[in-house]
Amino acid sequence: MTHGWMPAPAAHWSFDEGSGTTAADSAGGHPATLNGAAGWAAGESGGHSLDLDAGGNASVPTPVVDTSGDFTVAAWVRPDTLGGFQTAVSIDGTAVSGFYLQIRDDTGTFAFTRLPADSTAANSSAAVAGATLAPVQGAWHHLTGVNDTAAGVVRLYVDGVLHGETPYHGGWRAAGATAIGRGLYGGAQVDQFHGLIDEVYVFSAALDGDQVAALAGVPVGDTRPLLTVDAAHPGPAVSPELGGIMFEDINHSGEGGLYAELVNNRSFMASATTPLHWSAVGSGAIALDPGRPLNSALTRSLRLTVSASGDGIANEGFWGIPVRPATTYRASFFAASADAAGPVTVSIESADGGTVHAHGTVPALTPGWRKHTLLLRTRPSCPVAGDARLVLRTAATHGTIWFSQVSLFPPTYKNRENGLRVDIMEKLAALRPRFIRLPGGNYLEGNTPATRFDWKNTIGPVERRPGHMDDAWGYWSTDGLGLLEYLQWAEDLDAKPVLAVYAGYSLKGEVVTGAAFDALVQDALDEIEYVTGPVTSVWGARRAADGHPRPFPLEYVEIGNEDWFDRTGSYEQRFAAFHDAIKARHPDLKLIATTPVSSRPYDVIDEHFYPSASSFQNGSHKYDNRSRSGPKVFVGEWASQEGTPTPDFNAALGDASWLTGLIRNSDLVVMESYAPLLVNVHNAVWKTNLIGFDNLTSYGSPSYHAQVMLTNLIGDTIIPTSVRALPGLNVVTTRDRRTGRLYLVVVNTGAVARTTPVRLTGVRAVRPDGRVTQLTAASPADTNTLADPHRIEPRTSRVTGLAASFTGTFPAHSISVLQISAG
Ligand code: AHR
Repeated sequence: MTHGWMPAPAAHWSFDEGSGTTAADSAGGHPATLNGAAGWAAGESGGHSLDLDAGGNASVPTPVVDTSGDFTVAAWVRPDTLGGFQTAVSIDGTAVSGFYLQIRDDTGTFAFTRLPADSTAANSSAAVAGATLAPVQGAWHHLTGVNDTAAGVVRLYVDGVLHGETPYHGGWRAAGATAIGRGLYGGAQVDQFHGLIDEVYVFSAALDGDQVAALAGVPVGDTRPLLTVDAAHPGPAVSPELGGIMFEDINHSGEGGLYAELVNNRSFMASATTPLHWSAVGSGAIALDPGRPLNSALTRSLRLTVSASGDGIANEGFWGIPVRPATTYRASFFAASADAAGPVTVSIESADGGTVHAHGTVPALTPGWRKHTLLLRTRPSCPVAGDARLVLRTAATHGTIWFSQVSLFPPTYKNRENGLRVDIMEKLAALRPRFIRLPGGNYLEGNTPATRFDWKNTIGPVERRPGHMDDAWGYWSTDGLGLLEYLQWAEDLDAKPVLAVYAGYSLKGEVVTGAAFDALVQDALDEIEYVTGPVTSVWGARRAADGHPRPFPLEYVEIGNEDWFDRTGSYEQRFAAFHDAIKARHPDLKLIATTPVSSRPYDVIDEHFYPSASSFQNGSHKYDNRSRSGPKVFVGEWASQEGTPTPDFNAALGDASWLTGLIRNSDLVVMESYAPLLVNVHNAVWKTNLIGFDNLTSYGSPSYHAQVMLTNLIGDTIIPTSVRALPGLNVVTTRDRRTGRLYLVVVNTGAVARTTPVRLTGVRAVRPDGRVTQLTAASPADTNTLADPHRIEPRTSRVTGLAASFTGTFPAHSISVLQISAG
């Protein structure tokens, strides 16, 4: 083995002193001072190492290298705990460190991280060169971070092998202290390293691979690229319920989205003062009238004062009412009139009233409230248009008409009564979700207890549902998409509901206590009975009366949402109360906690992640080391935050990378769901969402397609798979035990194609031909839009030359699933 010329280090601390508070710099002038609880322990090399188990660090008051130029930093590290961010070596800027040689909490990997500027605001564009394996607690690893300005990248080597490489052009000079065992963030000393650190080298040069291998003491032959699939040692089963959907009404995803109702503010309850989204037609005058309610739920109606024939009311829909040719729409409304009883014409027409696309007539109104229903059919010549309106006109010349619950539906998914939009449901069906977590999210909690998702107000005839202000996301919900509709939606997709019950904490921090809290626990029991109870039970009978005698399957109940925000610590008691009440009646139900509690056991913990695309791309080893003896994990919300209103391809690379880690760990991570699921492009209150739509069409983002690939092309058993010296690759393999087929997922987040040896061990015969399904894009910033919905979609093709050892090619910036038939 020969290694290239090694430059002289700018600093080198061997930490072999073993006593005192100073560590000498064998390169010259930068002795480090041990601070706080820093001490000494046996070393990886030489006699001793720096012991930071109990806290503390070692530091030099000045930078030992100019971080705006080429540099390399290397250290032996032995982490004794794996949680949290832990920095082994850094140099302080003013607000953040110039670099972090670290363990990252978000991805569970070693990383060499640089921010583009000396500011926490730059965190979302951090350049993270991450490791393709998880650190092992109590084991020594050699880490090397390289800042290569000529190549415009940062690199991470682990044990002398290149693991991560990511573009970085923001080289800035960190002018503060050099620190061993901590970092700087938000101007504070943070990210304490827990464990031992030895042989820290800093060079004013970008070392090459051979030099790094020499530093780590590994033979160069062991640093060559290799992708290994070890079918001889199959791992655990893939969780059968892994991939699912998280849904809440955000971004008008339900109201004005999946719930296909085309009339906006159909119940006139969205405002107490203004008939939002309604206008008068002709010379008539309209006003909300609390004196003429439809019933005790819809406590006001719309009063039309007629002064000429043709007066009426018009609804603008959700950013227009969509029409299509040869389509039948279901219109209905409640009306009452004693003195303007003449025919009412209902029409879908262009915004200026110039073109009538479809119409129908109700011959007469009655003095008391009465419901009227009509079918409106557009002609084959009707244009496809998104800007129509719904108009109800009277032939009467004077008098007063009261309207309530004015509704218009297009054809719905499977023509079901739950009223779901066809194109969006087809996209959801393609995801093959195993569950739907409902109804949120912040939507479940509301800003205050009064605006929570109060399930009892969301069942029964729609005209008896009062609706509520979705103040978490800023618009009115009619609750037409209520509990039963959610459950039927799950049924439509052959998915199980994961029922999230309101647990007495709302977004603005209010905690429900006393009798009101006890009532919430009872509400949850009633809700479970509504979902699962026999028709002989009180709430099972209600469900039957609502049209669904058959109970729904229910396995998981989630108690609240993101209760780590509750700084009062009340979740401990709140969870305990729900736990005791639910388990007493339903011992088989599994309970999901939203933050850890100690007084009661929980079956599953729900964890949420919204990091940068780069974070997710650079390692997905968060769960590789998590104890298997504790509760299972539900990653109930996750998404790379890049692209709006839907993720770009770079985010898809992050999301697919993250998903490889969830699949690999699905013995522990039993369920996962991306969030948010849907966005009406006119109301993207959340930046990055999976599926975009307007009132006419919808499209899947690159992340959507990546998920369809990874949740459909999957076996039932996890097969250990590793990569060596292949920076940017995230991999997972599963196998279908029945067919023997292997599904090898390779996400190449890097800007260079990887042509690499692939070795399959433990297989007897490999069919030479197979299939590859690939998602690629012109550039990471590329994306799908409403105007260009099919720009980035998976393509499947035949591959040949497969064998126990073959050469695989994985294009730059690509997501590939290779299907290999191997006996
Ligand atoms: O998914 C969007 C929001 O993010 C959810 O409502 C909430 O649970 C999380 O904070």
